[in-house]
Amino acid sequence: KEIFLKDYKLPDYYFETVDLSFALGEEKTLVNSKITVSPRVEGSSSPLVLDGHDLKLLSIKINGNGLKDAHYQVDSRHLTILSPPSGAFTLEILTEIYPHKNTSLEGLYKSTGNFCTQCEAEGFRNITFFQDRPDIMAKYTCRIEADKLLYPVLLSNGNLLEQGELEGGKHFALWEDPFKKPCYLFALVAGQLESRDDTFVTRSGRNVQLRIWTPAEDLSKTAHAMYSLKAAMKWDEDVFGLEYDLDLFNIVAVPDFNMGAMENKSLNIFNSKLVLASPETASDADYDAILGVIGHEYFHNWTGNRVTCRDWFQLSLKEGLTVFRDQEFSSDLGSRPVKRIDDVSRLRNYQFPQDAGPMAHPVRPHSYIKMDNFYTGVREGLFSSFLGAEVVRMYKTLLGSEGFRKGMDLYFKRHDGQAVTCEDFFAAMRDANGVDFANFLLWYSQAGTPIVKVASSYNAEAKTFSLKFSQEVPPTPGQPIKEPMFIPVALGMLNSSGKDLPLTSVFHDGMLQSIASNGEPVYSTVLRVTKKEEEFIFSDITEKPVPSLFRGYSAPIRLEADLSDDDLFFLLAHDSDEFNRWEAGQLLARNLMLTLVADFQQNKPLVLNPKFVQGLKSILIDSSLDKEFIAKAITLPGEGEIMDMMKVADPDAVHAVRSFIRKQLASELRAELLNTVKNNRSSEAYEFNHPNMARRALKNIALAYLASLQDEESATLALNEYKSATNMTDQFAALAAIAQNPGKTREEVLADFYNKWQDNFLVVNKWFALQARADIPGNVENVRNLLNHPAFDLRNPNKVYALIGGFAGSPVNFHAKDGSGYKFLGEIVVQLDKINPQVASRMVSAFSRWRRYDETRQSLAKAQLEMIVSANGLSENVFEIASKSLAV
Ligand code: ARG
Ligand code: ZN
Repeated sequence: KEIFLKDYKLPDYYFETVDLSFALGEEKTLVNSKITVSPRVEGSSSPLVLDGHDLKLLSIKINGNGLKDAHYQVDSRHLTILSPPSGAFTLEILTEIYPHKNTSLEGLYKSTGNFCTQCEAEGFRNITFFQDRPDIMAKYTCRIEADKLLYPVLLSNGNLLEQGELEGGKHFALWEDPFKKPCYLFALVAGQLESRDDTFVTRSGRNVQLRIWTPAEDLSKTAHAMYSLKAAMKWDEDVFGLEYDLDLFNIVAVPDFNMGAMENKSLNIFNSKLVLASPETASDADYDAILGVIGHEYFHNWTGNRVTCRDWFQLSLKEGLTVFRDQEFSSDLGSRPVKRIDDVSRLRNYQFPQDAGPMAHPVRPHSYIKMDNFYTGVREGLFSSFLGAEVVRMYKTLLGSEGFRKGMDLYFKRHDGQAVTCEDFFAAMRDANGVDFANFLLWYSQAGTPIVKVASSYNAEAKTFSLKFSQEVPPTPGQPIKEPMFIPVALGMLNSSGKDLPLTSVFHDGMLQSIASNGEPVYSTVLRVTKKEEEFIFSDITEKPVPSLFRGYSAPIRLEADLSDDDLFFLLAHDSDEFNRWEAGQLLARNLMLTLVADFQQNKPLVLNPKFVQGLKSILIDSSLDKEFIAKAITLPGEGEIMDMMKVADPDAVHAVRSFIRKQLASELRAELLNTVKNNRSSEAYEFNHPNMARRALKNIALAYLASLQDEESATLALNEYKSATNMTDQFAALAAIAQNPGKTREEVLADFYNKWQDNFLVVNKWFALQARADIPGNVENVRNLLNHPAFDLRNPNKVYALIGGFAGSPVNFHAKDGSGYKFLGEIVVQLDKINPQVASRMVSAFSRWRRYDETRQSLAKAQLEMIVSANGLSENVFEIASKSLAV
């Protein structure tokens, strides 16, 4: 059933308080829910419709009296109370559920022996009958009763009011959350867990107990998560003035979890991979991800929990804003340009392809079948409101830090304790700053990535420089015609020695506007492009400049500027905006790759432009540059990004070209790469900080380049790096370098790595992923064999993301011309859907862009999608993605 934004109606009934009581058992769990209900309009007694799924209803009482059969109706999705009393009443419902049989990992389920919950978006209806919608905000208590030996720790939201022993080896705990919340933020955990404890004193003096819970054997791996939590609490106070509001903050790590983590009020539940880390078992990327996601979930306490969404169409209100906040947090703690490069790459590799395909939807979708599908786009199962975060970032670009903060303050002042919409956020930003945001709201309603063309010209006599912008938003399903968008363009201009030219005034819309600040010229400014075509003429430009456009990627668009390769090489060497230096290098690489792909398709010999080699060489040996920046700058655009730019995507050609360039660069820069490896080794203990991570990143990318040479010397080098590594970052990078090349060494080292780490499921997942994404021809057979490996389990999402998701991320094998990759994924999706629809639908989305390929591939992929859609008992999750992919 499809649900539409335009159909939103206020609820007929509100819930004031909810008292839940759980009797947790091995065979069944009893859930009693006592709700105080009041009608929205006094005196009305329309039917009260509750959501509920897979629940066994035992009894219903209204004001303490059992309800007769004739007074309610139950179907597979609802419980309807036909004529409730007029005025306020209490409703008490007793249900029975079966968490041990719940493999969907939605609602209440068991993960490795412990009970835990996941209610966002619509999982609470699997626990009890309820109005499962975020605009129903209530105060909760939760009583949990369970066997004391099996479940010594009992947790829920808020404060612990009472706990004690019960007969028959049982015990109980009673929790109370003083804040109103929607049911998607409810959480319960019960099991054998231990905690790392710490405290944080807020700036107004509140003493907060911090606890991170894991099984005893993992406790030593929670130090970095605790560091991250305290850093996040401090950062939110410093940057946004936001303090934590309770005396206790719990985080629980569970191994079976569909997504990355969940921001339940004061009881965050996390996928173990985003909590557990030690230098020996986790890579720098894991450390970074933990910092970002711990921050993300903590920041939700204000942006999501205190102020929540009116309905799920407003998801970006909390996710876009909170992703933006965690990006800023990570930038402030690490390197801002490097973080920006990572985030933009992610946007290009995941979001843009989606926005150009059948699943394209605006930041605020108009309709959905299964809300969970709007959290996808990231195969690994993290949230994906990257575009929403870009929209929030544009407010900040337009308003500056101070103006943005004013808007945030007003947002909380107006809406604390409420369930609101994206317009409410927009209005707070606008009103706090008294500015005109023109057609900015279109970013929420119009899907598709705008294409912005820029033509520039210099008038030497008049000393003016003109930039002509034109924009176009491509059609997307259901939106054939688009309006022009409001596009903030941050820019500067480089003079012939590579320095930023002073900017004083610009002629636009028939008016000469000063852009100087207090009479002083500026070196970077933000233009507001709002029309289909628009010209800006800068005055007092003393020489012909090279423009640096969209600095810091000031808007999520595809840019087509009239810059020559020489201009790009110049920007790569000199731009004061580090993001745009990287961008210039990427543009050059993209152009080069596309040219070579055409050559490859016409059977022409491949030749690498020496200027490109020279450009990368000067970056590689420039000791004044940040090492992680160098590592990013010498990394070629991904295969997906290049295929995304082709009329007909050709995975074989793109792969061949990318491999050719890598190998050619490695052979021409061999000496420099070898030096890079040697000079960036360190025998010191692992440290999580930017300089050390940057050093490792640079060394390891050099190692990967060298390994592509497939010669004796590089092979020995990689093997030595593998053997001498003292942390997972270096060890895994060396393993990956070795694994590029088929042969005996590869098999031996892979086996050695598994033997070392077989008891650590998180490390074993890296091992699965590495083999799954290998570009070795016919790798589908290896992956099929790994399905039967004793460490693999289709019921665990992380393992599926590693092995199946990893495979779908290898274009040459997933898109193998014989259809073997499609067939494999098709079979798995059908199997997986019976176990876990959310995970299955994330996997099926790998098919969604099947129309981008040649006819042979199209018909093979289409056949799999048709097979999936016709499977018996298909979930709504998979149906939505598969059927939309098939629709024209
Ligand atoms: N709100 C969560 C986060 O920000 C995402 C979880 C969504 N889960 C789901 N099954 N839809 O991390
Ligand atoms: Zn989130």
